[in-house]
Amino acid sequence: MEDYKIPKHVGIILDGNGRWAKERGLKRSEGHKEGFETLKTISKYIFKKGVKVLSVFAFSTENFKRSNEEVDYLMNLFIKGFKSSIKEFNDNNIKVVFSGRKEPLKDKVYEAMEELSYKTKDNTGGILNICLNYGGRAEIVDTTKKLVNAVLNGLINVEDINEELFEENLYNNLPPMDLLIRTSGEVRISNFMLYQAAYAEMYFPKSYFPDFKEEEFDKALDVYNKRDRRFGGINEKK
Ligand code: FPP
Repeated sequence: MEDYKIPKHVGIILDGNGRWAKERGLKRSEGHKEGFETLKTISKYIFKKGVKVLSVFAFSTENFKRSNEEVDYLMNLFIKGFKSSIKEFNDNNIKVVFSGRKEPLKDKVYEAMEELSYKTKDNTGGILNICLNYGGRAEIVDTTKKLVNAVLNGLINVEDINEELFEENLYNNLPPMDLLIRTSGEVRISNFMLYQAAYAEMYFPKSYFPDFKEEEFDKALDVYNKRDRRFGGINEKK
């Protein structure tokens, strides 16, 4: 199709790993493991389609409320998973960045994140932004503090603060989100990239994240292409 639109920035709230495992009589941890495999497969496909930035919600600040067993499992999955996938991301020219707060992540987790982002920093085939220990409100608060400090240190004037400058000073300087997908049928944004997703088209497929494969993303693109994006204005063509 000639004017088939490819979103520049896609966000995915990776939901339903636990239910995927439960339906198969497996432990929740098995669902997370499978989810990580799906993430690697689907991110390669999404960048091949021409998407420039993919943001994924891997762990929210609120997820620390889960059982110690589950939190420990996920943290170990991050450590092992990040280390073992450096080559795969490099082979596919994918640059990985992280969004979120450092505290209270354990050193080993933080080091694995630093290593993965450092070793993939020169890749140009797409940016995978992994939101880990992330909260959208926290990001807005942290950015506000950063800008207030810049004013107090005489680096900028209050009048310099506008939407563009705010966007540039978020955890990562990324373009606005065009398409936000949440798997598993839940219809909530759950504190994910509140600033970036202001005008994102939203799509809520029923599939659990481990089942979110290539065809599922193609369906999301079809839905996105049928949407009429007006950004608060009117569509002149109609
Ligand atoms: C939501 O499913 C998923 C998570 C809280 C963790 C997401 C993690 C992964 C996909 C694996 C690793 C990812 C990276 C980036 C290394 P849920 O547990 O809320 O599922 P449920 O709602 O069915 O219980």
